Amino acid sequence: MKEMTKANLQAAFAGESQAHMKYMVFADLAEREGLTNVARLFRAASFSEQMHATAHLRALGGANVTVKNLEVALGGENFEVEEMYPAYMAVAKLQEEKQAATSMERAFEAEKVHAKLYARAKESAEAKKDLDLPAIFVCEVCGYTVEGAAPDKCPICGAPLTRFRKF
Ligand SMILES: [Fe+2]
Ligand SMILES: [Fe+2]
Repeated sequence: MKEMTKANLQAAFAGESQAHMKYMVFADLAEREGLTNVARLFRAASFSEQMHATAHLRALGGANVTVKNLEVALGGENFEVEEMYPAYMAVAKLQEEKQAATSMERAFEAEKVHAKLYARAKESAEAKKDLDLPAIFVCEVCGYTVEGAAPDKCPICGAPLTRFRKF
């Protein structure tokens, strides 16, 4: 692919991905304000942006067979755990940006778990087997991820058991 088109697709993929996510958040907020139709509009647009992001990723050659996708996913999580969040958290602390620091610390804790799970999944996929995986629970408040059973209290944010979503 020509360099400029590739850079443009990458920028468009980033923009559409962010719009997809933002509209989901905006939809929930509109719902809370009782603006049901605005919420519905945000959800529809969010879904549409998801299709655009998906098509851009495919055009970039970024959607492959699962064994390859797991390698990409693991690489991303490892980068976040080993380089990105430690550096970002240090800056946030230095600058006394408390909310940013908390948000990043919470992500950091979950990414560590994601990295471990992806590493296991990659090994199984390489052996041409599906992952041996019990239920996974994710904290609705902070995103902490745990396999097996949900804890009585989230070890990261303190949310109760009832706030864990099962996958
Ligand atoms: Fe992650
Ligand atoms: Fe949590």
